[in-house]
Parts: sequence; structure tokens; C-alpha cells
Amino acid sequence: MAKITVSTLKKMKDEGQKIAALTAYDASFSQLFQDNGVHVLLVGDSLGMVLQGGSDTLAVTNQDIAYHTRCVRAGAPDTFVIADMPFMTYSNVADTCKHAAELMRAGANMVKLEGGEWLYNSIHALTQQGIPVCGHLGLTPQSVHVFGGFKIQGRENEQAEKMIKDAQALERAGAQLLVLECIPSALAARITQSVSIPTIGIGAGKLTDGQILVMHDLVGISAGYIPKFSKNFLLEAGNMPGAVKKYIDDVASGDFPSTEHEFN
Ligand code: KIV
Ligand code: NA
Repeated sequence: MAKITVSTLKKMKDEGQKIAALTAYDASFSQLFQDNGVHVLLVGDSLGMVLQGGSDTLAVTNQDIAYHTRCVRAGAPDTFVIADMPFMTYSNVADTCKHAAELMRAGANMVKLEGGEWLYNSIHALTQQGIPVCGHLGLTPQSVHVFGGFKIQGRENEQAEKMIKDAQALERAGAQLLVLECIPSALAARITQSVSIPTIGIGAGKLTDGQILVMHDLVGISAGYIPKFSKNFLLEAGNMPGAVKKYIDDVASGDFPSTEHEFN
């Protein structure tokens, strides 16, 4: 498979070809994901939960993400890798640039930040200086304590309208990709049509430009619990390469996510 870049992802959106992304944290799985055709890997701060056993993502440090980004890059030298910026590593422009640079030097192709319009100046500074940015709206887990739990976002009209404005502000600031997490499918569809950058959904229905899953959810080992929006592809496929291929195929065909995985 040819090397995927931000241009490839934009082209996929424009041609209606679905992007299949997975989280990854180590070299072995990253190699398997690359070999089986995953388009994008995310070194997610979800590692605070699935690797470190925390009850949220707040304890993850920039060093943690840099370390796992090196591991992922070593296993998947040709895959497009996004690195999450952890909690409180992007609270002002200078800190944002310093921490993002560390993640890029560790092997990332792009960094991801949680939040809307308030990130405008930081995203502008990053992209001006050569660091591609992915936004993240909806259930942004670093704000779990403000939300009062891991709850669907954007159900009220006012919140939904604000999310659309936030998405457009992120694009104006220079973001080239956007993750939408746990929002009603109709809102995810509206956001996807309101921006020209690709959207990647998780718990956001099938009308986004792509999907992402935490790799532990794909194989059904997330602490014995499978979120509603996820699916155990290993159960069906019987082996890891098969599970990865089935996920990519089902995202491409629109079979995943189906109505049972979405929020209204
Ligand atoms: O940290 C993570 O795994 C994420 C995805 C769920 C989008 O941010
Ligand atoms: Na994350």
C-alpha cells in the first residue's frame, strides 16, 4: 500500500472511500496493523486506561506518549501515525509547540488535541511551524470530570450548534483531520458536511469519513467490557489478521458501525 499522507486522507474523503483507523501502542501490533492495511494509527492517551489501568486518561504524560509513539513507529514505519497530546500539555501556545515537537520527533505524523475554538491560536501556531493537527470534539475524555462521566455529547440543540461552529473553527485554524467521539449520528453527519477536512468517528455513526476503535475493543479485551459503539471483530474472524481485515472491510462497506452501535 502506498504511503498515506494528509493528502491521501483528504482524497479519500472527497472520493467517499472510508478511512479505517485503530489505536496502537507497541511495535508488534502496529506491524500487524500495517501489514493488514490499516490507514491510520493513533497513539491514544487511552493508553492510560488500557495499558496503565487508570479509570481515566488524566495521568498520561507527554513522555508516555512519546515512548509509545517510538514503539509504534518502529513497528509501522510506513503508516500514518497520530500522537495524542495528553491532559494539560497544550494549555498555552508555547507549551503546545514544545510538547508537540517532542511527539513529532518521536515519529508522529500529526498530533491530536481535544477541544474547540479555544484551541485556535495553538493549532494555528502548530500548523504554521510544520506540525499537522487533528482536532477532537464530542466526548473528549480529558474533560470527563467536567462532563460528570463518560456521557454522550451534543444531544441538546445549543451544544450541537456550538460543536459545528467549533469544527469549522478548527478547520480555519489549520486542522487537517477531526475525531468525533460519542455524539448523535445525525450531528456527526452534519459536522462531516460542514467541513472539508475528513472526520473520523467513534460512537458517531456511519456517516463520518472514517472510523476509529481502541484496539483492545476490536479484540474484545477491554477489561471485560465492550462499549456500545464497539464490536469484537476477533470473535467473528477467529484470528488477529482476520479481525483487522474484517474491520477495514466492514468500515469500507458501511457494515460497521451499524444502528446497534450508534447514538441518536
Ligand atoms: O485515546 C484514544 O484512544 C482516542 C480515540 C478513542 C479517538 O482518543
Ligand atoms: Na485520546
